[in-house]
Amino acid sequence: MLRFSTAGESHGESLAALISGLPAGIPVDQSFLDHELWRRQQGYGRGGRMRIERDTAHILSGVRHGKTIGSPIAMTLANKDWKNWEEILPIETGDPEKHKAVASPRPGHADLAGALKYDFPDARYILERASARESAARVACGAVAKMLLRALGIEVASHVTRVGTAELSREASFAEIAALSSREEVLLACVDPESEARMKAEVDTALRTGDTIGGIFEVVVHGLPPGLGTHVNWDERLDGLLAQAVMSLQAVKAVELGRGVTAASSPGSQVHDAIAYAEGDAQPFTKFIRERNNAGGIEGGISNGEDLVVRGYLKPISTLRRPLASVSFESREATKAAYERSDVCVVPAAGVAAEAMVALTVARCVIEKFGGDSLRELQRNYQGYCAQIKSF
Ligand SMILES: Cc1cc2nc3c(=O)[nH]c(=O)nc-3n(C[C@H](O)[C@H](O)[C@H](O)COP(=O)(O)O)c2cc1C
Repeated sequence: MLRFSTAGESHGESLAALISGLPAGIPVDQSFLDHELWRRQQGYGRGGRMRIERDTAHILSGVRHGKTIGSPIAMTLANKDWKNWEEILPIETGDPEKHKAVASPRPGHADLAGALKYDFPDARYILERASARESAARVACGAVAKMLLRALGIEVASHVTRVGTAELSREASFAEIAALSSREEVLLACVDPESEARMKAEVDTALRTGDTIGGIFEVVVHGLPPGLGTHVNWDERLDGLLAQAVMSLQAVKAVELGRGVTAASSPGSQVHDAIAYAEGDAQPFTKFIRERNNAGGIEGGISNGEDLVVRGYLKPISTLRRPLASVSFESREATKAAYERSDVCVVPAAGVAAEAMVALTVARCVIEKFGGDSLRELQRNYQGYCAQIKSF
């Protein structure tokens, strides 16, 4: 079973990531891993922190001579800012005078609920772990999952379809979306320059007015065969697994599969994807084909061979330069919510983190279905299954 977990705080010494259950023999490309981490740090509207950090994953175990060896992979990602926080957040008791309290909870953040739950006098320790800095460790794990999927010809990519009210005005092909990941400068990760300019204008307004802005990203998985996930048990449905994985990302407040949102207000004839049959290779896995993909590649909790399309809806960032009303933890008097250096728009970065979560979810289903202790064994099982469904 593929499992992963993360540890670490936003201003601690480093993040840690642990991923286990992968077969031996997956080629591991350090430069790809670090490029994925770099992509998570990009985007127009990010805060000052992105300028002081350039993430890199330090692999401690589970990889030798450039390939996985089947044992758990442990990684650390250093926080370059640690030198400025060592005395503020020491492991030992340290000097209480140096503590940097988050003195008034930020509406929309975990501050108040977390301080109440963990019985802290202020929200410092809550901010430290609730922060999306943690998503960097997920991206490191997701990069390894992508390397496994790539060995089977399965690709994962994302793009931004909305920032505030500015929406991508046309359909995007998978090739266009995938090409975004090799851009040297990431603005808003949109495939269409005119739409991207409108998105940038929305961020500029938020920057100018001390506000923040959310949006929608779309993750697409290309080359996935039919048959991952299952209808037979509620907790093995691929749609449910993906929804949980993407919803667990900081600031994601809704997850949509295919045209799930508009489908709710459309007649069935305009929603469901008619089935045809054609000899030849129009579809790589089966001779049953579709002309459209409103289902987003999943029916009955099972992948159906079309591209998997998962959309995440991101709320605006809750740390505001012009803060909302709050209450002082200490005096209980009305005050403004705390402000700490913060992002204004993170939709492209959230898309990269969601790619990681989707890749990890799909990789888990692949490993469950095809098994194998080595990549060669898994590939053999995978190819056998693909041949079986092609001849169905
Ligand atoms: C990539 C990324 C970066 C984020 N950066 C910030 C930030 O700079 N400031 C902030 O207040 N929230 C930021 N957030 C969102 C918060 O982490 C999130 O809103 C908070 O932890 C509360 O969780 P919830 O929104 O899921 O309820 C970011 C989210 C993502 C995905």
